[in-house]
Amino acid sequence: MKRRVGTGAAPGKVILFGEHAVVYGRPAIAAALGTGLGATVEADATGPVLRIPAWGRGGQQVRLESAGGSFESISRAFAVALTQVGLISAEARQVAVTVDGGIPPGVGLGSSAAFSVAVLRALFDYAGHPASPQTVLAAAMEMERVFHGTPSGLDHTIVTHGGCARFQRGQAPTFESTFESLPVGRPLTLVVSWSPRELTTRGVVARLRERRERYPLPFERLFDAIGEVTREGQVALSNGDLEQLGLLFDHNHGLLSALGVSTLANEQLVSLSRRGGAYGAKLTGAGGGGAVLALMPEERCSSLVSTFEREGFKAFATTIEATP
Ligand code: MEV
Repeated sequence: MKRRVGTGAAPGKVILFGEHAVVYGRPAIAAALGTGLGATVEADATGPVLRIPAWGRGGQQVRLESAGGSFESISRAFAVALTQVGLISAEARQVAVTVDGGIPPGVGLGSSAAFSVAVLRALFDYAGHPASPQTVLAAAMEMERVFHGTPSGLDHTIVTHGGCARFQRGQAPTFESTFESLPVGRPLTLVVSWSPRELTTRGVVARLRERRERYPLPFERLFDAIGEVTREGQVALSNGDLEQLGLLFDHNHGLLSALGVSTLANEQLVSLSRRGGAYGAKLTGAGGGGAVLALMPEERCSSLVSTFEREGFKAFATTIEATP
């Protein structure tokens, strides 16, 4: 028996250490953000239709066949979600899905993973099928493939599970074998800033893959070094050692620059963060523009957010809570 309304939600995420190297089997550490996306599903005889008022087009409707432009992959991922939930027939697909919330799209804060998981949870709820985390993860991976080509699975795993965790891609990844919740010894105050992306995640990951195929050795060494920083980051996180975490943020950012995934805008955000009193700063997510994380003393956060706004960037402050 179908319910008339289904709801689901999922947080955004930040990668503290190890982006890109995680695609090549090294560990990464990520944390769920306190803000995210929510989805609501209702019956609609003109469906399937998707609305994402916060992401532009003034709430315009996205349909499966005619999205075009930047909504093309969203519409294809929406089709995958309907299929994954078992809404196959034209009649079963008579739904309207509305997605809203505070994660900006396409800047490295897990918008596509939050979109995928929130929409899946809402559709499963609407269809009256309880879904285990494993089922949501497998379905979200199919949607993330539409968005990103060859994702590691890190983004939708942290977004599904929440908290702060270490992730390492396995040969035959399962939730249990790839994901380990981590203790955080002290709350982390972060300022997240961003500029528009020059390339999509799919584009940055593909370009890095080409370069690594041409010059495997130097890239493998950089991935190894990032893996080492991530392991040290895990210890510093658990000890609540902010100075050491800042140093490791800086180190990880330098290695990401060496991989070629940082842009002038990323460098400018990192440099403003450091001048604004950060313990350390790094790009987060795929790079190619997009978001930068600054680990901050709490009392300096609001002045750094104002600096970014004055310079024409967007920014917000957020906290990752301590966990035993
Ligand atoms: C994107 O948020 C993180 C990357 O490591 C890609 C991935 O893990 O799939 C760049």
